[in-house]
Amino acid sequence: MLKLLKLLKDGRFHSGEALGAALGVSRSAVWKQLQHLEAELNLPVHKVRGRGYRLAAPLSLLDVEAIEQGLATPGWPTLIYDEIDSTNAQALRAVSGGQQAPFLVLAERQSAGRGRRGRNWASPFAENLYYSLVLRIEGGMRQLEGLSLVVGLAVMQTLRAAGVSAAGLKWPNDVLVNNRKIAGILLELVGDPADVCHVVLGIGVNVNMSINNEVDQAWTSVRLETGRQVDRNQLVAQLNENLQAYLERHRHEGFTGLQAEWEQGHLWQGRAVSLIAGVNVVEGVVLGIDRQGALRLEVEGVEKSFSGGELSLRLRDDS
Ligand code: BTN
Repeated sequence: MLKLLKLLKDGRFHSGEALGAALGVSRSAVWKQLQHLEAELNLPVHKVRGRGYRLAAPLSLLDVEAIEQGLATPGWPTLIYDEIDSTNAQALRAVSGGQQAPFLVLAERQSAGRGRRGRNWASPFAENLYYSLVLRIEGGMRQLEGLSLVVGLAVMQTLRAAGVSAAGLKWPNDVLVNNRKIAGILLELVGDPADVCHVVLGIGVNVNMSINNEVDQAWTSVRLETGRQVDRNQLVAQLNENLQAYLERHRHEGFTGLQAEWEQGHLWQGRAVSLIAGVNVVEGVVLGIDRQGALRLEVEGVEKSFSGGELSLRLRDDS
């Protein structure tokens, strides 16, 4: 089915006969595949008697060469999948299989995209970025401190450069525009964090998605914010460059060197929030973050710090 899609991706008309010849199947088999394409990938196909078939709009697929063209410095070795359960899961499997880090895993679609706190990450075909960068970390905890927040900074800057000027951060590592989520980050780690480990920086960015009924929270996308269809290969190149630069600074300066910049990008500085940890809720006012990237809250007149992957933050109604 994806071979057929690649033949149609230019958005021009192709006759059933020509498609059948290119795929080595009959015209009726082409017709069946087209129906699957429409139903499974949610891609409308125009069928015109005498002219053939064409996609409602041209489709730009992920492509290593196109990504490399947009890079000033060479990128990471990149694996692109048409479909995978989760790019993070695939990255972890590749590490166990002996793949040498750093490397990048991208996919056109995820059938079991993972979000934070066990949630699902909606991952429709060819619309968004599903991006997992694997790094080998030697030398322990300092290199992990604040790492997920640093990734947030790189994503935020990438989105701002793509024209989403209102993109900002929400602790620990969501990227929001007017309280709607545009990108999420999920770090997963294997090995010994105090010695040698591999960390997967999993990034999901809503790029060209304009309709999705599966997402159970307020969301937006680059296209909805800018009114323009975005070239995802260019966006990958831009994200690679920003990540390279921020990771380099993090390696040299540690998180302390990026703490102030992160706070500048934090949309909820000074806001009254509820911090939710399972059934426990702490109410406070956001003071900022500490040198490790933990959230600093003023709680009943006392400063307290909070960290941990299972925490989530909500604005208080009276904020
Ligand atoms: C969140 O809940 O905010 C985190 C979402 C992270 C989604 C990305 S998409 C690429 C990578 N692969 C996954 O399965 N999840 C992350």
